[in-house]
Amino acid sequence: MTFPSSGAYVDALQDTRRCFVDPELVGCTIRTDRFGLPRPISGNFASVFTADTAGGRRLAIKCFTRDVPDQQERFREIGAALRDVPARWKVEFRYVETGVLVQGKPYPVLVMEWIEAKQLISWIEDRLRTGDRAALGRLADGFAQLVAGLEAAGLAHGDLQHGNLLVTARGELKLIDYDGMYVPALRDRPAMELGQPNYQHPRRTASDYGPWLDRFSARVIHLSLAALAADPTLWYRLHKSGGEYLLLQKYDLEDPASSPALASLGSVSAQLRTRAQDLADMARKPLDAIAPLDVPAAKQPDGPSKAQSPATNGATLGGGASWLDDHLPPPAPVPLSRPTRTARAAWYGSLLFFGVVAAACAYVIPPVFIGGAVLVAGLPAVTPWWISFLRKPEVNARRARRKAVHAARTQEKQIQAQLRWQLAAREESIATYQRELRALADRRSRIDRDAAAEYARIDRWRDEELAKLVRERTEMQTWKSTELARRTSSVEARHLADELSRHRIDAAQIYGIGRAVVAELETAGIRTAADFTGIRVDRGFGRSTHVRVLHRDGRALKVPMVGEVRARHLEAWRIGLVNRVRVRMPAQLTAAIRAQIDTEAALRQSGITARETAIRSAADVQHKTAHGQTQAQRDSLAADEQSTRSSHNTAIAAIDRDCALHREGVSAAQHRLRQERRALEAYQPVRFRNYLRALTFGRS
Ligand SMILES: Nc1ncnc2c1ncn2[C@@H]1O[C@H](COP(=O)(O)OP(=O)(O)O)[C@@H](O)[C@H]1O
Ligand SMILES: [Mg+2]
Repeated sequence: MTFPSSGAYVDALQDTRRCFVDPELVGCTIRTDRFGLPRPISGNFASVFTADTAGGRRLAIKCFTRDVPDQQERFREIGAALRDVPARWKVEFRYVETGVLVQGKPYPVLVMEWIEAKQLISWIEDRLRTGDRAALGRLADGFAQLVAGLEAAGLAHGDLQHGNLLVTARGELKLIDYDGMYVPALRDRPAMELGQPNYQHPRRTASDYGPWLDRFSARVIHLSLAALAADPTLWYRLHKSGGEYLLLQKYDLEDPASSPALASLGSVSAQLRTRAQDLADMARKPLDAIAPLDVPAAKQPDGPSKAQSPATNGATLGGGASWLDDHLPPPAPVPLSRPTRTARAAWYGSLLFFGVVAAACAYVIPPVFIGGAVLVAGLPAVTPWWISFLRKPEVNARRARRKAVHAARTQEKQIQAQLRWQLAAREESIATYQRELRALADRRSRIDRDAAAEYARIDRWRDEELAKLVRERTEMQTWKSTELARRTSSVEARHLADELSRHRIDAAQIYGIGRAVVAELETAGIRTAADFTGIRVDRGFGRSTHVRVLHRDGRALKVPMVGEVRARHLEAWRIGLVNRVRVRMPAQLTAAIRAQIDTEAALRQSGITARETAIRSAADVQHKTAHGQTQAQRDSLAADEQSTRSSHNTAIAAIDRDCALHREGVSAAQHRLRQERRALEAYQPVRFRNYLRALTFGRS
């Protein structure tokens, strides 16, 4: 029977009222993609859909894309076998025979609780991004426990690989995809699948089906996780993005001797070299001859009893909680070996010798020296026994334990010191950061201050220049009105002169000015009213007066026959004429003169306006330049701020990572120290006093 493709399931699941019969599934909401179509997660043999039920449960609905003849029975057995396994990695499921109707035909589905978790590869990439190596180490341990738990229950998954391992936000592993699982009830059937080849033993066949089925793939995964915890750069060197593997691929497992990837893993540490070598050896052995993966010492799945051994090599970073140490029963005491009969006989001989020497001494030596004598006799008697005690294997072992305690204490102190140093470095780094932030803030206010000062300078310059122009404009106005007045008065003067020159003195009949006076005036160059501008009468001594006629060229002329009276008449005549001319004087300048003055004023005005425009635009250009410079300074400041912030964050993150590692290191070292002390406690009975007691009484 052919099974529907992923696309056919997508079509069918668009109407969950019609495609499902199961009461929990009818009408459920399937998670869709951006086109609004049901979104499948496609594995090798199935498409998994996320569904929200009316009852508020989130489920994973696994729709199969290949036919497995005895599938229902297999799932029944698998379900029954898993029921009694107390494991947190388990995912509950139920097999629904008439699961989904595709084009009217029923197909089975597997309904599971939906696990909010990440697939292993994306979880690893997240951890590498945050630099959380410790989490990788913990996951490797958790994985070893999971595998040990499976095998302890007599089960095997059959397809251990990244796609079937999900990691929750709490770092807990969930194992999914039980299609190819081995359970004892299925032992007589062939395996349903051979697993993802990048994880499987190169010679795995369908007849390989037993509780040891996962041993090789478990090693591949565990080695990869442990290697990544030790050297995260391996990921970037060995894993290709989108690759269906972690660090090792099918051809690495087929020909381990010439695998560069396996060599890279081995080059990280001596421990990893051994494990990589072990994997290479296992690739040549039959699958069922491979030993199960070791479980981390303090985390044996079958209880804490195995962790009681005072072995020193079991302490891993982050392992060994102190409460666990405190709750362990005290270690079994190491007994002192019983002395042989010969030894005891020799001991009695020594005692006898000592007794005899002591008695002799008491006899011959004054009582005051007896203490010294006993010592003199006692020392040679006891020294050989002290030497023989020191040579005993348990005494040597106790010495080794003491050294181990000392070494553990030294190591713990060193790591504590490193941690303190890291914490001080953290403080220092934060203080430096704050100093840098302050310097940046100062720089920012300096930039702002400089910018404000520059703007003010530009504005001041512009305003001063504009004020000069205002003055120039006022001066220009003054010039214009002065010029108008000047030109007007010169026109008037010319007009007056013209008019006055038409009035001859000889024709004027001025009182007292007859022919003879006219002749005298003509002699002086004065013929018309225009030829003189007035008279001047100066009083001399007594009644004498000096009369002068003011010629138009500025001379003051004494004209014969022109005395004061005649002069005054002459002046009155002229004034009368002037007044008459003034009355009829033309009121305005000619249009031509006005236009001339206006043109000149307009020219000067437009010069001023042009200079004003130039000043304003020069100020604008200066503003723009200043703004550009300030902006460039602000941009470079922002870049410096950004780089300071990010380098601080990177530095602090690195220090925090180191601190976390050192904290784990401290707790591991303390754990080791506690273990060493406990191990030393077991040697309490190994004492010289007890040895002498054993020699004397046969037991200590
Ligand atoms: N219960 C579940 N919760 C969350 N995701 C799941 C669940 N079951 C399957 N998936 C997702 O669907 C993918 C394919 O499922 P799987 O059972 O491995 O199918 P296949 O047998 O085709 O490999 C898984 O890698 C996982 O991402
Ligand atoms: Mg799968």
